[in-house]
Amino acid sequence: MTSVVIGRANGLHGSLTIPGDKSISHCSVIFGSISKGKTVINHFLKSADCLCTIKAFQQMGVKIASHGDQVVINSQGIDHLHAPKTKLQMGNSGTTTRLITGLLSGQPFNTTLVGDASLSKRPMKRISVPLNKMGAKVKTTRQGTLPLEINGGQKLHGINYVMPVASAQVKSSIILAAIQASTPTKITEPIFSRDHTERMLKKFSPNSIKRNGHDIVITPHQAFTSQTIDVPGDISSAAYFMVAGAIVPDSEICLKNVGVNPTRTGLIKVMKQMGANIQLKNLHNRDSEPAADIIVKSSKLHPCHITGDIIPALIDEVPLVALLGACADGVTKVTGAQELRYKESNRLATTTEELQKMGVKIKELPDGFVIDGSQPWQSKTDDLDSHNDHRIAMMLAVAALIAKEPVKIHHADSIRISYPTFFKDLKKLENK
Ligand code: S3P
Repeated sequence: MTSVVIGRANGLHGSLTIPGDKSISHCSVIFGSISKGKTVINHFLKSADCLCTIKAFQQMGVKIASHGDQVVINSQGIDHLHAPKTKLQMGNSGTTTRLITGLLSGQPFNTTLVGDASLSKRPMKRISVPLNKMGAKVKTTRQGTLPLEINGGQKLHGINYVMPVASAQVKSSIILAAIQASTPTKITEPIFSRDHTERMLKKFSPNSIKRNGHDIVITPHQAFTSQTIDVPGDISSAAYFMVAGAIVPDSEICLKNVGVNPTRTGLIKVMKQMGANIQLKNLHNRDSEPAADIIVKSSKLHPCHITGDIIPALIDEVPLVALLGACADGVTKVTGAQELRYKESNRLATTTEELQKMGVKIKELPDGFVIDGSQPWQSKTDDLDSHNDHRIAMMLAVAALIAKEPVKIHHADSIRISYPTFFKDLKKLENK
């Protein structure tokens, strides 16, 4: 499947169990692989990105098996990884690349990481700079991109690092090097980014990490104990149905057991601000992550202006905010979102280009966009493109649910990166 045709929906109904969180799935494989013993991961996200992380650790000698969405890891511990026989293939996955580089910069062997065309354009100096300050030898191309060469066998030392951009991937990369350094590391985050790595590290190794406000201190060489992890549903995947439920008239849907870690719930806050009818039920904290059912009903939307500290809490949902803005009765503005240019596609450009094709009045800004939703916008197009970006494919599919005519989306198979069953799940809500 490379192209899909999506038609107008007459209301979405029913409930869905959203596949596991992508970031937490990656983290659980990484920490399970460096903790001696058996780690069991339930509701693991079996998407292309997370399978890349599994494959990389298998190539380094870790025993990982899966049955349905359960993954079982048997590891000898952090000192027993061995050199992969070939270059490690990172595919499209920025999280695998950045997190694994931190870990491998403290290991005794050399590794080379390669990726697909999109990943090979993404900035990697943001990790090589702090890691090399710790004594690592991580080399990017002159453009600061993949292939990335990690010269193992270095003695790492702790650093004090103030994050220049709010990035959980960079923070996690430093944390995974810091656990192997000779002295403690302090990371200061002026703006909070998602904290799944910190929560997961605390679960596997309670004495390794302490947070004090904006500071995180990592104490190296602590014991790691294997764990059982229940991965909650991914709020970034649930987000497509949260927005669909809000904008498709006569809808009412329930998204079950979705992770609602406060560093990820920016879209819920923004939707409420815009007048969406969205509620949380059955909130629980069973594992180290909060989760809840999210209930959404269609409603009239008002414009908003989002900027600054909230952006990292909805970093992957910003294209959906543009779509919400296109359905609101006025002008919506997103600024401070320049990081979107460095994702699987340049999401400020691709969101603008594709929504314009649908007739939306959206203008790209250097760090965001302005959307005028006050006029009807559904013009006829059958030529939308995901730009091989899973999040653009799914945002466009949601937009198509309210278009006048069916819409064709090219390169829609990019959904395999984070939500392989997205189109099946959408059908379930349409057929109720
Ligand atoms: C991710 C963090 C975010 C997000 C990405 C996944 C993670 O990236 O955009 O999809 O798994 O830690 P940054 O932390 O680089 O903004």
